[in-house]
Amino acid sequence: MTRLPQELEESQHEFGSKLVVIMVGLPARGKSYLVKKLQRYLTWLQYDTKLLAWENWANERLEVKWRPMDRIGLNRTGVQQARTATSFVFNVGNRRRIASKGDNRNGTSHSHAFFDPKNKAAKEIRDELALESLEELIAWLKQGGRVGIHVLFIESICTDPVVLAHNLTMKLSSPDYKDMDERQAREDFRKRLENYERAYQTLGEDDEEDGIQYCKLINVGKKVIAYNIQGYLAGQCIFYLMNFNLSPRCIWLTRHGESVDNIVGKIGGDAPLSARGRRYGDCLSRFIKHQRQENEKSRRVEADAGMAISPHRERTVAVWTSMLTRTKETVERFDPKEYDIKHIRFLNEIYAGICEGLSYTQIEKEYPEEFEARRVSKLFYRYPGMGGESYLDVIQRLNPLIIELERMTSDVLIVTHRVVLRILLGYLMDIDRSKMPEMDVHLHTLYCVEPKPHGTVVKTYRWDEGLDWFVEAPVDK
Ligand code: F6P
Repeated sequence: MTRLPQELEESQHEFGSKLVVIMVGLPARGKSYLVKKLQRYLTWLQYDTKLLAWENWANERLEVKWRPMDRIGLNRTGVQQARTATSFVFNVGNRRRIASKGDNRNGTSHSHAFFDPKNKAAKEIRDELALESLEELIAWLKQGGRVGIHVLFIESICTDPVVLAHNLTMKLSSPDYKDMDERQAREDFRKRLENYERAYQTLGEDDEEDGIQYCKLINVGKKVIAYNIQGYLAGQCIFYLMNFNLSPRCIWLTRHGESVDNIVGKIGGDAPLSARGRRYGDCLSRFIKHQRQENEKSRRVEADAGMAISPHRERTVAVWTSMLTRTKETVERFDPKEYDIKHIRFLNEIYAGICEGLSYTQIEKEYPEEFEARRVSKLFYRYPGMGGESYLDVIQRLNPLIIELERMTSDVLIVTHRVVLRILLGYLMDIDRSKMPEMDVHLHTLYCVEPKPHGTVVKTYRWDEGLDWFVEAPVDK
């Protein structure tokens, strides 16, 4: 909450600060991947974000640098009360493809010649498109009154040949090359890259003199150089990007087995499992063991075929639960010699304050106003009473856990509770904030989330009590 002076409280204008994140780097350095991931994270933290795509033309960087913002009269530092900090990313690549319409020589809408720094006509088109995108950005930033604009440049540099080869393969399926013969596409892209390299300027001392804030991410965050980073959000973005990795892995998520409170519909508390809940835990341990063996087999095959980004090695599986009895009991059958088991308070269920231990019917009867307020705005509603939490509070406490999830390379099983599961799936599956608090996440359902370079693959398994095994089911979104 921000307390503003009265005259500002009464004004119609929105005050706040916005963060513009601009990705730079040679082609096939994972810029789009990084920025989409960052956007997902910021959206999950409940920042309004907008993603536009801007193709990088390294040689034009100086012309579209941040100077025009001063000329159009936007206040660069502006009012500092950050009500909504907003990130924004944009790209000209799509505009170029649209503008090129008829020009389809070589099977691509623009061949490498278009990117030659000496090609004057092409440069004019590129300038025009870049400025159009800049106009679009400025128009969007100007909405909502006075805002402080902060710009963060993130440069992705990649020298690791394995990652580069992988990025190149991804690039060849991009809209520019998807209809082209593979050999021809590789050759065109190689020449395009040479054109970029001739003009490319890395971020450095010139930019430091201009006082911009920037970050260079080298080899997917292995090495990071940061300059003049100002503000919480910019620091948070860099911290996030420093911590993720590209290892293929499975993130398994489930609620605890049925508890005795679940049977009577009481919320919160620290009840033990019912007999049925224990059977669920038992089956879970057998199923995860089976899946683990299957995954190991297929990863070995991928590594042998040279399809993997890192060499194959046997992994430990981490098992994380909350500190509450029902999640700890759910993993009782997991052997600590085989699994790295941790009980983590961050994973505890939302704390319902004065409503702990009540059923929804009791809450409606005893606290009708609270019940209504939560119904109207579940995401923002905070339970009254000492320690009472809202969904937003739970998101904040899960932030370090998300960073840890992104950082780790092993598979992990997370056994937690309804609200925490919704929020974690909200992040992993990029679920809209309006839908997230209402997501169906039933007891005795197991989710398997696999982060892949082109997106996240999610599988859902339901426990079939008769079979005493898990059966794959369609994904709820
Ligand atoms: O009923 C189980 C439970 O995990 C409660 O402990 C918790 O308060 C509730 O679900 C959260 O679900 P919702 O946000 O839909 O009320």
